[in-house]
Amino acid sequence: MSETVRLDIDPDLLRARMPPRELYRDPAWWKALVAGPLRRGWHCLGSADGLEAAGAARPFTLLPGSLDEPVVLLRGADGVLRMLSNACTHRGHLVVEQAGTGKALRCGYHGRGYTLDGRCTGAPGFEGVASFPGEDEALTRFELVEWRGLLFGSLAPEAPWKDVIAPVEARAGSCMPAKWRRDATLDRAFEFDAHFALYVENYLEGLHIPFLHPALNARLDWKNYGYANFDHATLQVGIAADGEPALALPAGHPDAARGRVAALYFWLFPTTMLNLYPWGLSLNVVEPLGPSRTRVRFHSFVERPELHDRGAGSGLVQVELEDERAALQVMKGLAARTYRGGRYAPAAEAGVHAFHRMLVRTL
Ligand code: FES
Ligand SMILES: [Fe+2]
Repeated sequence: MSETVRLDIDPDLLRARMPPRELYRDPAWWKALVAGPLRRGWHCLGSADGLEAAGAARPFTLLPGSLDEPVVLLRGADGVLRMLSNACTHRGHLVVEQAGTGKALRCGYHGRGYTLDGRCTGAPGFEGVASFPGEDEALTRFELVEWRGLLFGSLAPEAPWKDVIAPVEARAGSCMPAKWRRDATLDRAFEFDAHFALYVENYLEGLHIPFLHPALNARLDWKNYGYANFDHATLQVGIAADGEPALALPAGHPDAARGRVAALYFWLFPTTMLNLYPWGLSLNVVEPLGPSRTRVRFHSFVERPELHDRGAGSGLVQVELEDERAALQVMKGLAARTYRGGRYAPAAEAGVHAFHRMLVRTL
């Protein structure tokens, strides 16, 4: 934790108070959130489509506006897909400037060469330099995993991916395909003037559903809404109102005791939301663009099209706009000098508390 910021969240939910408004407004806190939680978390990077061939490369900036890390996804000669730093170890020029396929990498600035797994093979003009090229001339390799067709990466993971995804697999593995297939025609992106943490907090509680989302509320049995928290993720369980479609969970599933499950809402620290509906998966990727600007991308993976416009998984754009509006109104409200962080509603805001404790851990 940096000198200038200190987040105290009591581990006891019944005693705890939420973060002060500085978390969402102060530039020092923003820097700390980028250097800690965002750098140490796992982020969804889309799919490996187009990167099947050895030598296929896709450069991009990881989380523009916050991490701003130049990286490249690169399939090695050994068939392994890697995420490497895209900054040349000489003077920092981007090594791969556009997507494509090649047998090796060569920096366009002074011609330094790299293998497809990032080792430096040599550089013109460096003859006579001691122990050159050493291992520290290689492009830094970051963590990358493929999970059911989706890529996740991290610059400095707080926890291994298997620990992050374990509760999703345990609760929902039986109703997920081996590989999610995206319907790109259903992609949506939303941008709004609020801090990403406000959007995450809103996502993590169902307390607001009857007030903010009357249409969604009618499709859910709200009084049986459920919550579970894990070390690096949370789950919310939406129970179907009468007549609405439900997930086909195996007999004895822990969440089926509440009723017919309309949705399993998983959040993976800090930016991924996996919303599992009877029709398939709605993935929300949160992109912090700055301290008061956030983009959320919606991707849809439709397994049962006949159910797509039914139940808790329908009308998602309307629900999103209602949620965004709340985040925006909170952002405005946090200008209040009198605001000092509220208490947590025990039955419904334990997930918000879990998020804040994860921030404490990674700041
Ligand atoms: S910056 Fe890449 S070779 Fe000089
Ligand atoms: Fe909501």
